[in-house]
Amino acid sequence: MYESVGGQEVIDQLVDDFYEIMATDPVAKDCFATHEGRDISESAHKLKYFLSGWLGGPQLYLEKFGHPRLRMRHNPFPIGTKEAEQWLYCMKKALAKSVIKPEIQDQMYGAFVQVATMLIKNPS
Ligand code: HEM
Repeated sequence: MYESVGGQEVIDQLVDDFYEIMATDPVAKDCFATHEGRDISESAHKLKYFLSGWLGGPQLYLEKFGHPRLRMRHNPFPIGTKEAEQWLYCMKKALAKSVIKPEIQDQMYGAFVQVATMLIKNPS
C-alpha cells in the first residue's frame, strides 16, 4: 500500500492538505475544535508518521512514540459522530486533491471510516 500510494512524500502532502482543510473549512469546525490548544504542525507530524506504518511503510510512529493505541490516545478528546464525520470529510477532500489513484483512495477511505467509527465515544 505504501508504495502504491506513492511513498512518504505523497503521505506528507495528504496530511498537510488534510489539516489545512480542517483548519479553514467551516464544515469541519467541531473536529478542528477538538485540537484546541494543540500545535497543529505537531498533530500533522504524528499523523504522517502513523500513516507511514499503517500503510505498510517504515514504522516511524512506533519507533518515535511507541504503539499507536489510537483509542487510548484519543481518550482526552470529545469525539462524537459529528466530529468523526467531519474528520472523514476533510480526509475525503484531501484524498481527492492527492495524486493517489482513485481505487487506492477508496480503499484508504474505507479503512479510515472504520478507524474513525471506532474512536466515537458519545454517538449522538
Ligand atoms: C474521528 C475523528 C477524530 C478526531 C476528532 C481526532 C482528533 C485528534 C486529536 C485532537 C489529536 C491530538 C493531536 C495532537 O496531540 O497534536 C489526535 C491525534 C492523533 N490522531 Fe486523531 N482524530 C480523529 C480520528 C483519527 C483517525 C481516523 C486516525 C487514524 C487513521 C487518527 C490518528 C491520529 C494519530 C496517529 C494521532 C497522534 C496520537 C498521539 O501521538 O498522541 N485520528 N487526533
